Amino acid sequence: MALNQKRIAPPSDDRRWKLVDATMRRYGYSSQAVIETLHTIQEVFGNISAESLAYVSGSLNVPPSKVYGVATFYNHFNMAPLGEHVLSVCTGTACYVKGSGQVVDWIKEEYGLEPGQTTPDNKLSFMVARCVGACGLAPVIMLDGEVVGRLSVDEMKKRIKEWISYDK
Ligand code: FES
Repeated sequence: MALNQKRIAPPSDDRRWKLVDATMRRYGYSSQAVIETLHTIQEVFGNISAESLAYVSGSLNVPPSKVYGVATFYNHFNMAPLGEHVLSVCTGTACYVKGSGQVVDWIKEEYGLEPGQTTPDNKLSFMVARCVGACGLAPVIMLDGEVVGRLSVDEMKKRIKEWISYDK
């Protein structure tokens, strides 16, 4: 990510996020920073949580599935458990103008989840991505890695409800 682009806020006021940010800054917020950033997160927090994956993904503009893939590929990383299912919503520009922000708001209302959070029953983790490289399909969501796009906001909600086959 170029330095003049707006960066996303860390998940909390915890000062340890400043150390995580310093690592990403050292690499100019480029996608090359994923491994080093995950190292820093593990050093300062002890493990890699869903919210830290979402933060790295948004800050470095790398799809959450890729960050998750890197984190799980190396045995060295100690993952905090993600939910059984992962729902990602792309909030990159192309998807945002087609209503993905409304989908994010709806998920907050409907399932009580902020990006990076997991339901208490560990069934569902929710993430946002900056662009998953499928802008032609905007708005795009990913249901456990399956790319779903070109739906209206209402159709998107219906699709998510069908996918989430358990009672809240
Ligand atoms: S902005 Fe959503 S896929 Fe590119």
